[in-house]
Amino acid sequence: MKAAEAPFRLADYAPPAFDITHVDLDFRLDRTETRVLARLSIRPRGTATVLELVGDELVLAGLSLDGAPLAADAFTATPSLLTVRAVPDRPFLLEIETVIDPSANTKLMGLYRSTGAYCTQCEAEGFRRITYFLDRPDVLSVYTTRIEALKSEAPLLLANGNPGAHGDIPGSGRHFAVWHDPFPKPSYLFALVAGDLGAVKDSFTTMSGRKVDLAIYCEHGKEARCLYAMDALKRSMRWDETAFGREYDLDVFNIVAVSDFNMGAMENKGLNIFNDKYVLADPNTATDVDYANVEGVIAHEYFHNWTGNRITCRDWFQLCLKEGLTVFRDQEFSSDMRSRAVKRIADVRTLQARQFPEDGGPLAHPVRPEIYHEISNFYTPTVYEKGAEVVRMLQTILGEDGFRRGMDLYFNRHDGDAATIEDFLACFAEATGEDLTQFSLWYSQAGTPQVAARGEFDARHRRYRLTLAQSIPATPGQPVKRPMQIPVRFGLIGPNGEDLDFASVSGARVDGDVIHLTAASQTVTFEGVSTRPVPSLLRGFSAPVRLAIDASAEDLLFQVRADRDPFNRWQAAQTLAMRSLVAGASATAEGRNGAAEPALIDALGAVLDDEKLEPAFRAQVLQIPSEADIAREIGENVDPDAVAASRKRLRLAIVSSLGPRLLAVHTALGAEQSYSPDAGNAGVRALRNAVLDLMVASGSRAAVGAAVWQFETADNMTDRLAALAALCHAALPERLSALHTFHEAYRSDPLVLDKWLTLEASVPAPETLDRVKALLAHPSFAASNPNRVRALVGGFASLNQAQFNRADGAGYDFVADFVLDLDRRNPQTAARLLVAFRSWRSMEPVRRAAAEAALRRIASAPKLSPDTLDIVTRTLA
Ligand code: ARG
Ligand code: ZN
Repeated sequence: MKAAEAPFRLADYAPPAFDITHVDLDFRLDRTETRVLARLSIRPRGTATVLELVGDELVLAGLSLDGAPLAADAFTATPSLLTVRAVPDRPFLLEIETVIDPSANTKLMGLYRSTGAYCTQCEAEGFRRITYFLDRPDVLSVYTTRIEALKSEAPLLLANGNPGAHGDIPGSGRHFAVWHDPFPKPSYLFALVAGDLGAVKDSFTTMSGRKVDLAIYCEHGKEARCLYAMDALKRSMRWDETAFGREYDLDVFNIVAVSDFNMGAMENKGLNIFNDKYVLADPNTATDVDYANVEGVIAHEYFHNWTGNRITCRDWFQLCLKEGLTVFRDQEFSSDMRSRAVKRIADVRTLQARQFPEDGGPLAHPVRPEIYHEISNFYTPTVYEKGAEVVRMLQTILGEDGFRRGMDLYFNRHDGDAATIEDFLACFAEATGEDLTQFSLWYSQAGTPQVAARGEFDARHRRYRLTLAQSIPATPGQPVKRPMQIPVRFGLIGPNGEDLDFASVSGARVDGDVIHLTAASQTVTFEGVSTRPVPSLLRGFSAPVRLAIDASAEDLLFQVRADRDPFNRWQAAQTLAMRSLVAGASATAEGRNGAAEPALIDALGAVLDDEKLEPAFRAQVLQIPSEADIAREIGENVDPDAVAASRKRLRLAIVSSLGPRLLAVHTALGAEQSYSPDAGNAGVRALRNAVLDLMVASGSRAAVGAAVWQFETADNMTDRLAALAALCHAALPERLSALHTFHEAYRSDPLVLDKWLTLEASVPAPETLDRVKALLAHPSFAASNPNRVRALVGGFASLNQAQFNRADGAGYDFVADFVLDLDRRNPQTAARLLVAFRSWRSMEPVRRAAAEAALRRIASAPKLSPDTLDIVTRTLA
């Protein structure tokens, strides 16, 4: 294994020695030999006389200072560093010419080609693949960008900011366009797009009456699939004005959809670039979930204009300053557009499925990391989703008004700054008078806190005592933790379902319905409680913790029926299901047959039949924990086959108890108007399809027939895919011809074929691994495209627990081989796939040994990228 480079540490932060006030870029685009002339207006901050600019795989073609070419002994240039000796101690102009090859750029960082166009991705460290620069977020410059290209190849020329001069270059077949962005920005927000693309255009009038021209660009022929994204954009712009008082600031806002993209999307100033998966949607190709994702990602990138662009990060350790906050903002937006309760459940499911395993495994890191080797590996669920939870807790602690005052102060005080988490928290402390010292541990301590709760009712004294104890597990580099401030939203539910009143409370700060747990253990005493309550704790998932409470099945069932907090109704049903599933898995491992908890069946039945509840909510309750959820709950010595068997058995038990009622709901919801992607309609489909999935799991002929019929006759992708998924998840033979039909029908639509690849990879059957291997050679697969890779290989590793974690280690070997191969071309995507191994230590010994062998094989491979080296090293540590 090669030795890693020295890590970057937050403690080592030092401001840059130079400012770059203006960046004037001139691109002469060519598919294999693009010339970039960068004119940098540089101003020394102190007395430094040596200027070091970073590069990445760059070729220097020219260098001059204040108009005079530099002598060979005045500088040194390597592909990754340009050192200029003896620069002046006053402002000067440095002109750098580099030559780059966009067609050869398979890392998809810097300038590359996708969808037949030129495009860029610069966050976090891609700009250094375009020119030598102080490529760090605390260097803010005003950019002017001139793009020149063959007009036939690239009639469209876009960059950040507002459009300026443009025209033809006579006799050359080439043309040019100039863009100017008046807002100083870090290099990671630079973007350029040039190509021949289709567009939908619209406009938006801001709250102060300024008209903004909007456009979304995509591959020709897909324009109609951009209309929903355009609508979501306009709703996002309006929402940020009403919810946060934030107005858009340029004359234009452009979005470009490209098909090769390492992540979801990118908030480049005035020119967002998207993975087309998060732009394109129509009823025939996108599911309801896709629509919701498009809406959420469009909003997320738009909201970055204030939380990220106008106020950026001082350094990459502060990534959560923009990402956690912006995820919080997009979650709030979607909650306002859809059902708040259902959105919260969906977000918590994601957090528990993606962030909890990270926090509980070898890759655990604080929301604000203090050390990294490769920053690309820190675009994580912890920085994003847990980061959003931390902002949400701040809102819970300060109240909506206090939170808004803090946000207003942050926007006013730090507009134009590269800020830190300390700057952010200081605004809330100042605006509200709250001491956030202990709260700030949420940014520095990794690991998911466990909160154990125990209640005791003293009928004689009408007193209820609630003891809450917190503990935070050790994580890499952090063996010991301090108690945190945990806001526990609560209610004491009385026998008729109403929250009980109490006369007084002591033992903790309690504001309204929030208990502030601040010590390792606290007993909260409620006086004047008339009758034994059922405690409803952590309502709305008020803190990202694991709550352990020894509630009886009876109390949980009562909560499912009566809790006025919908999140906790869902949570109580999940808890009941999880108990059955965990017991079932150990029963299987011991060769016994587990039994379904009768209270669970009652709970599910009650929710299924309750027509006062939103269909989308009922669908969430019917979806019992996944195999990965169960494995995480078991935590050690996991046998994925036993887990799968337990889950399958419980689902069969649910169907055998609720069969006729499931069928009744399915039939009642069957008659449908024409497709509309709105949340209400989507909820009906979600419930009907959750029911179908359960019924098909039983393998009954009628249910399978209904799924096949739905697959064949559905007029929208949601229902068609759900039927196909039900056949695949039950590994039924009927899936084979349906999968074939599906592929034939969508053979020219890569985004739809991604769904097909994922379903192929998720079939819980031993032959799936060979099928996945065969699909690597299928014409519909391309290892160069991150979406295809994530759909097939990522889908196999994350959605097919029993097959990825095969006892013979073949699943691990397959993913390891794929990662090693991909690492030579696209290290970011390779490293991301490797994260699938993060829970290897919780497996039973045979699988654990097989996973470790695969990881060691990767670690010892020659020429690993820094990205993959970092993940494999930490995963094995
Ligand atoms: N800032 C982007 C977003 O969250 C993520 C871009 C990160 N891309 C990358 N290649 N590291 O919206
Ligand atoms: Zn973001």
